[in-house]
Amino acid sequence: MYKAFYNLKRNPFEITPDPSFLYSTKRHNEALASLYYGVRRRKGFVVLTGEVGTGKTLLVRCLLQILQRADVAYAYVFNSRLNPVEFLQYIAGDFRLQTSGKSKSELLLELGSYVIARSQRNLTTVLIVDEAHHLSVDVLEEIRLLTNLETPQAKLLQILLIGQPELDEKLDADNLRQLKQRIALRSNLGPLELDEVGGYIHRRLQLAGNDRPDVIFPIETILEVHRHCRGYPRLINTICENGLIHAYAKQSRSVTPEIIEEIANDFRLNVVRRSVKEGSEEERFEEVQRAARTLLDLYSYLRETQSETSDFPLTRTGKHEPFI
Ligand SMILES: Nc1ncnc2c1ncn2[C@@H]1O[C@H](COP(=O)(O)OP(=O)(O)O)[C@@H](O)[C@H]1O
Ligand SMILES: [Mg+2]
Repeated sequence: MYKAFYNLKRNPFEITPDPSFLYSTKRHNEALASLYYGVRRRKGFVVLTGEVGTGKTLLVRCLLQILQRADVAYAYVFNSRLNPVEFLQYIAGDFRLQTSGKSKSELLLELGSYVIARSQRNLTTVLIVDEAHHLSVDVLEEIRLLTNLETPQAKLLQILLIGQPELDEKLDADNLRQLKQRIALRSNLGPLELDEVGGYIHRRLQLAGNDRPDVIFPIETILEVHRHCRGYPRLINTICENGLIHAYAKQSRSVTPEIIEEIANDFRLNVVRRSVKEGSEEERFEEVQRAARTLLDLYSYLRETQSETSDFPLTRTGKHEPFI
């Protein structure tokens, strides 16, 4: 609704992870490079962790775009609340193998033969599990068995586990130490620094078609956004999207710091700030999670009421090449 007013061709702050919006911070670059390098150099087992809304799924989608161009077959699991058989069925199905009526050991055999046959043709095969912090110990044990698919020279199946920091804790468990020992590369995503928050907001506005992002979001406003979102990209999107809606309602050419303050009050983000000073680490984290949930609920509601939503394009758009 505000697009024409701000000279925008598309919504700049969609919450869906769209690779064409990638803003390359040092950490995002390093993490994407680690995933890509792990796959191309057949390192076997790679782990990426990061708090909610830091850009993990976005990086996975960037990686998938790159892999689609190479001769790489991948299975992408994003519902990680599966039991071991469902998990193996899902992967085999993604590799277009026959799964119906097969037992767990038959599925493992089938997957094993597929991976070996591909590696004999020198082709790379990848398993990507997003939201991997939800995986049960039983499924992690299946993954450990899959890491056994190797020759003395190379790992035959490349496995990428992506999840929230609880994933690290899970992998620290004594009964999973064998799996932990197999991790070849690890990376972590954190919140953005202040200058990155500014760059991130302006880049999104530019990619959405506006060539004067500093007018819509001047530096004072960015300082205010940073103060409230504390560098988490998903929160930045939600705050900025609401900023545009509020500013448009006031027919203001700029989103002002006062508007951001208003949004922060509406969303009770100040509650987070107070507890940051006073609360324990755990309380602070819970508070941030509550604020994030509130924002996301509101965001979903706003999206439903907007008519101009567009589907996320998983295929290559050709508009922006993610780089390594
Ligand atoms: N480096 C980045 N460049 C552009 N957008 C980003 C970046 N990091 C995160 N985002 C955006 O933030 C939101 C949350 O990212 P997402 O990948 O879903 O987070 P996670 O999977 O870590 O919870 C998405 O809209 C995503 O596009
Ligand atoms: Mg995610």
